[in-house]
Amino acid sequence: MNKIIDIEVSKSYKVHLGHENYKDIVQYVDGGKKVFIITDENLEKLHLKELTTILDKEDINYFKFVLKPGEDSKSLEVVERIMNAMAAQKMSRSDIVIAFGGGVVGDIAGFCASIYQRGVEYIQIPTTLLAAVDSSVGGKTAVNLKSGKNLVGSFKQPLAVLCNLDTFKTLSKEEFNNGVYECIKYGILFEREYFNIFLQEDFDVNSNRLLEVVERAIEFKAKVVIEDEFDFGMRRLLNLGHTFGHGIEQASNYKIKHGFAVGLGMEIVSKISRSLNEITEEELEEILAVMKKYRNIKLPTISSQDILSYVLVDKKIYDGVINMIIPKSIGECEIKEVELDKLKELYYLGTNNS
Ligand code: GLY
Repeated sequence: MNKIIDIEVSKSYKVHLGHENYKDIVQYVDGGKKVFIITDENLEKLHLKELTTILDKEDINYFKFVLKPGEDSKSLEVVERIMNAMAAQKMSRSDIVIAFGGGVVGDIAGFCASIYQRGVEYIQIPTTLLAAVDSSVGGKTAVNLKSGKNLVGSFKQPLAVLCNLDTFKTLSKEEFNNGVYECIKYGILFEREYFNIFLQEDFDVNSNRLLEVVERAIEFKAKVVIEDEFDFGMRRLLNLGHTFGHGIEQASNYKIKHGFAVGLGMEIVSKISRSLNEITEEELEEILAVMKKYRNIKLPTISSQDILSYVLVDKKIYDGVINMIIPKSIGECEIKEVELDKLKELYYLGTNNS
């Protein structure tokens, strides 16, 4: 079964979710437009043909720019290479960029689309659970600097999002679970029942609830983005686990993938919440249990000092305070302003270190 979810922000668009739905691209691209596909080497081998067969059939002229998989590709140097390739293909403002891949591809392709000739349209085609439930929707684009993750970016809503759930079948269990953590995040933020799916079931790519889980996650995200597109208010809730998570991800040199790092970040803020007498002991145990359940990887050791050094250049810092998202219960969180000099203290409270 296929679904359409409407995202009604400054520029409204549709998320096409289901199976064999790449053919829906013809609603957005016609033979008069050039298409510039940004993807990575893995996706090029595994799934790109499903899309290019349709483009070929419709006589749509396309070019490919293939990235090395991994976070290292999300750099300004790669942006420049992409821009030069777009210019070499004489892409104009009426042409279209396609982001075909996971979060790295989506973030950099969206950023390139937002700045090339001051902005061209782009379509997100997320091929991972993580990208489907988070980065492909909401219009945040970014690349990393050496000093921090996502420090350069823009808001640019896509023209449409096309997600074929079958692409998740080729994800490793680690990559799939990487996305599960972002789903669990929506449960802790907004709905106990949704959280329970991950606690009570062994949720995996073969689950007959996959479509429902992804659809609900996108709906949770859409609600927030519709309310606060430019991230000045409630959209900050989506950063649950991200303050420490981004620090962990960077301090591990991206060996710990985003979702797992956010999972560790959610553990820390849940422990902080318990110390502040917000969530109950039972809720903390449930959160810790669900986090552990999907962590099918061996974590490298990283120093608290390294983690904190990255947290202190986080872009969520305004006027010397950072907005930290703290669970009040499973299904409800609040945004707390934390002075930077209190951050270390809270971190140690949340990691039981001293
Ligand atoms: N990934 C968080 C957001 O889109 O706001």
